[in-house]
Amino acid sequence: MEANHLQLNDESHPQQSIHNLVYCSRGSAGVGEAEIAKIIATAQHHNPRFGITGILVFGGGFFFQWLEGPKDSVQSLMRIISADPRHSSVVVLSQEDEIRERLFPNWDMELVEVADIRVVLEDAAQSASNPNQKKALNLMLEELDAA
Ligand SMILES: Cc1cc2nc3c(=O)[nH]c(=O)nc-3n(C[C@H](O)[C@H](O)[C@H](O)COP(=O)(O)O)c2cc1C
Repeated sequence: MEANHLQLNDESHPQQSIHNLVYCSRGSAGVGEAEIAKIIATAQHHNPRFGITGILVFGGGFFFQWLEGPKDSVQSLMRIISADPRHSSVVVLSQEDEIRERLFPNWDMELVEVADIRVVLEDAAQSASNPNQKKALNLMLEELDAA
């Protein structure tokens, strides 16, 4: 798995706390590899400029996305993403703005295969020093098992 194209770290946003938002949604009919490649390309183009990092998971017809960055950037991106017709039934699973450290500091927005997501999340949970981060990651793992 290629982890980063770009070194982005919190030093570029020293005053801002890190906002973390996790949601899941249902992919629209016809959304497959080609569409997802376009989404990833768009994200990799836009996200670094807004200090946003994270991961996108697609599997079984569902999206699962972890976004982290300055609160205003994450929330405005989330408004844009929510209105995207390529998915529906967008449900925010957790939103937290007390997290200071990024869990995916070098991931401008990578597509993670469902088969790999458990490993990615467990690794992140292990290296998380903040209990809120651990909680959010464990919630994601629970959602993953329930899906
Ligand atoms: C599941 C999903 C995840 C997305 N994630 C991002 C993202 O992280 N960053 C981003 O800029 N656009 C993302 N998009 C695309 C946006 O909804 C929107 O199409 C895009 O930001 C518009 O960019 P453009 O005007 O340059 O085409 C996502 C779309 C979907 C359906």
